[in-house]
Amino acid sequence: MAAASSSSRSATAAGVLLAMVVAAVCLHGAAAQLCEDYYDDTCPDAYDIVKQVLMDAHQSDTRIFASLIRLHFHDCFVQSEKESPPNNGSARGFPVVDAVKAALEDACPGVVSCADILAIAAEISVELSGGPSWGVLLGRLDGKTSDFNGSLDLPAPTDNLTVLQQKFSNLSLNDVDLVALSGGHTFGRVQCQFVTDRLYNFSGTNMPDPTLDSSYRAFLSQRCPRNGDPRSLNDLDPTTPDTFDNHYYTNIEVNRGFLSSDQELKSSPQAQGTTAPIVDQFAGSQDAFFASFAQSMINMGNLRPVTDPSQGEVRTNCRRVNGS
Ligand code: HEM
Ligand SMILES: *[C@@H]1O[C@H](CO)[C@@H](O)[C@H](O)[C@H]1NC(C)=O
Ligand SMILES: *[C@@H]1O[C@H](CO)[C@@H](O)[C@H](O)[C@H]1NC(C)=O
Ligand SMILES: *[C@@H]1O[C@H](CO)[C@@H](O)[C@H](O)[C@H]1NC(C)=O
Ligand SMILES: *[C@@H]1O[C@H](CO)[C@@H](O)[C@H](O)[C@H]1NC(C)=O
Ligand SMILES: *[C@@H]1O[C@H](CO)[C@@H](O)[C@H](O)[C@H]1NC(C)=O
Repeated sequence: MAAASSSSRSATAAGVLLAMVVAAVCLHGAAAQLCEDYYDDTCPDAYDIVKQVLMDAHQSDTRIFASLIRLHFHDCFVQSEKESPPNNGSARGFPVVDAVKAALEDACPGVVSCADILAIAAEISVELSGGPSWGVLLGRLDGKTSDFNGSLDLPAPTDNLTVLQQKFSNLSLNDVDLVALSGGHTFGRVQCQFVTDRLYNFSGTNMPDPTLDSSYRAFLSQRCPRNGDPRSLNDLDPTTPDTFDNHYYTNIEVNRGFLSSDQELKSSPQAQGTTAPIVDQFAGSQDAFFASFAQSMINMGNLRPVTDPSQGEVRTNCRRVNGS
């Protein structure tokens, strides 16, 4: 495990010193900010417990790491609700979150929030898939309400670059964050329904999306025929489907982004001088991508977290507000 991971026990002496300088103050209460060592006293093994459950789940489900990071993304953006339109029939991984929660409740009852479980699980999922590690900031509380309609503000696969930039900047996330976080699509699966318009009727033109590479289009048309099952699954990154690497960007460079929202980052006229150069940079340097991805995950994990105990709680069951 790399020194930058959030298991402070395996950090070097220098790393420990640095952590003390950067995150020395770990306040609890209304004015709290997130910090790395939030559970060091109350649940010191939290990170290792989550990791064990994830490794076990991965034995029978290679897709689970991708599914878990997506849950964290939706939770950060909108405290999203399992059955709302972008999630219903699409978000997965809830039984594994339940298993993590059960293991943590055994070790330290009532301590670790479900929002923090998702943040920790996202980091472990990326790291175990070959991606970067980072120190996860912790101390979120779970919402006491569940926002069904907020999920409608999530970015959509048909959004153009301008709308994607608006939805991110609305949350103080800039173009680097947008491009880096979209790199989450370097692993995981996607249903045919999210590409059929690009294959057969782009923007209502009855023509394919002209930015889609023609041999990739032929490949996807076989997998997703016009009247096929809209829920059939495809790899988001067919070159290395389960590895966290920079192939998301090298695919986009050759017009093989899966979603319209992926290819927009490079091919939109508005991408010139904004997101396209960032795609180029990450395609050319996996190290640059990894460094930005880690920072952007921290930025995304810091969106309006609930830390005031009067506004939130540690859920006992991640699927329900306590007492409901
Ligand atoms: C930029 C805007 C984004 C859009 C429009 C978008 C859209 C989508 C869509 C439509 C799917 C397929 C869902 C399905 O077939 O059921 C998907 C899957 C996925 N997304 Fe995103 N996404 C975005 C950003 C992100 C971010 C920021 C992350 C994480 C950092 C992420 C990680 C994933 C992963 C890992 C999957 C595969 C999940 C699995 O296999 O279960 N996405 N996304
Ligand atoms: C979610 O999807 C299921 C199965 O397609 C459907 O029965 C249910 O009504 C949907 N829920 C909502 C809130 O749309
Ligand atoms: C969500 O929006 C719908 C339609 O705009 C509205 O009828 C419903 O009351 C809203 N639900 C919540 C929980 O706000
Ligand atoms: C992007 O989409 C929005 C909403 O559909 C639309 O109003 C806008 O004109 C589009 N922008 C471009 C540059 O196509
Ligand atoms: C920006 O966020 C607000 C709520 O915080 C929401 O009402 C609005 O629709 C969002 N705008 C976009 C473009 O997503
Ligand atoms: C193509 O899309 C347009 C606009 O969404 C729709 O009116 C039309 O029926 C679609 N054509 C086919 C063949 O599905």
